[in-house]
Amino acid sequence: MTKYLIEGGHPLHGTIEISGAKNAAVAIIPAALLVDGVCRIENVPQISDVTLILQILRELGADIKTVNRTTVDVDCSHIRNRQVPYELARKIRASYYLVGALLGRFGWAEVPLPGGCNLGGRPIDQHIKGFVAMGAEVDVRNGLIYAQVPGRGCLAGGQVYLDIVSVGATMNIMLAAALAEGMTVIENAAKEPHIVDLANFLNSMGCRVKGAGTDVIRIFGRDYLHGANYTVIPDQIETGTLMIAAAATHGDVELTGCIPTHMEALSAKLLEMGARVTESDDTLRVRGTLCGYRGVNIKTQVYPGFPTDLQQPMSALLCTAVGTSTVVENIFETRFRHLAEMERMGARVRIYEQTAVIEGVPQLHGAAVEATDLRAGAALVIAGLAARGTTEISQIQFIERGYEDLVGKLRAVGADIQMVDVPVEAAENEAQIS
Ligand code: EPZ
Repeated sequence: MTKYLIEGGHPLHGTIEISGAKNAAVAIIPAALLVDGVCRIENVPQISDVTLILQILRELGADIKTVNRTTVDVDCSHIRNRQVPYELARKIRASYYLVGALLGRFGWAEVPLPGGCNLGGRPIDQHIKGFVAMGAEVDVRNGLIYAQVPGRGCLAGGQVYLDIVSVGATMNIMLAAALAEGMTVIENAAKEPHIVDLANFLNSMGCRVKGAGTDVIRIFGRDYLHGANYTVIPDQIETGTLMIAAAATHGDVELTGCIPTHMEALSAKLLEMGARVTESDDTLRVRGTLCGYRGVNIKTQVYPGFPTDLQQPMSALLCTAVGTSTVVENIFETRFRHLAEMERMGARVRIYEQTAVIEGVPQLHGAAVEATDLRAGAALVIAGLAARGTTEISQIQFIERGYEDLVGKLRAVGADIQMVDVPVEAAENEAQIS
């Protein structure tokens, strides 16, 4: 078993280049299924969720060529298999995008229900509502999503008002609508940066998507889409995670190749706490303060509000802020599982349904902790970097799903963090004790 071992107390100093956005790449890559030709996708992050979605496309018959470390050529001209492998698809949330892409291209899809982080119920009823609005018949049984257009025709443009603002449903409906006959309108659409990125990719393939980034998106379906070259946007959540790590270690870090306007909700909160945040073009600089951070209140919202994916990393900083902070999680049912692990490090937290009340303590101390999901793992890394002593983080596969070379990037700016292999028997003994 591999773990992270962190010796805390080292302020981060230096520059980090931000990688491509996970939640854009895992939708853009399946979008290549819409094209009978080659798509060159650049700035693809080297993370396990992307590796998995590429592996699924290969299983369907796509020809995938690695051009360089972050560029792939995806050719879906010869898709021969339309049954998505169960064991692969159930490992990630983004496998649901295969429904929209396969339904849009072939009028038929059979895709295992998605997996992903355990954040409570993660239904897909809004995805299905969109497909049905475009004339598809959808059934979910035996762990599979069956979707098809009657008579194996193609989808017709439809109108859908999302009952809940859903990133996945918005993107999935866009994928299905790209080759539909006529116009599809998505109302109450999500507005995250990766939705605009997917729209730009579809437009580069010859589609006409209007209004992405607003709450009404119109997709004018085409008969045919052509291959395209496209560069994925930088990762908003990686940027935010590293901004928080810089503040938590009272360091001075420049994040390059990012989009500062995507970070405004977090930048405002860090400034409110007393950190210094400055920006120019594609760079953000975060400088910590030694006189202690003011506690603040966080309420997660859809974009451009405070991102739910940064709520967990932010709580690691709030644990040592002066005074009381509150975190209200408005997007997911269960996104506080990291706090129990932080209590092992000395955090003082009380949870009341969707609200966590965090009493600041002067210092966290290192401990053996376990990542319970992707952003919980990132939060524990930040806590370990700021804590006094040694922190050991297990279940790091969650973290590797969404952060490219996190250990390498942190070490390059002075963190004492390393990946260590723990013999399986030692890990099993530890598990028996705990
Ligand atoms: C995407 O998840 C991201 N994952 C999540 O990032 C992110 O936290 C989330 O959007 C919100 O920004 C990917 O893009 C792969 P939603 P998704 O549909 O699409 C409910 C990370 O850490 N809902 O916007 O699953 C849902 O239960 C991950 O990178 C329905 O009720 O999020 C949730 O309460 C974690 N019915 C809310 O909407 C539906 O059909 C928002 O979910 C769909 C969603």
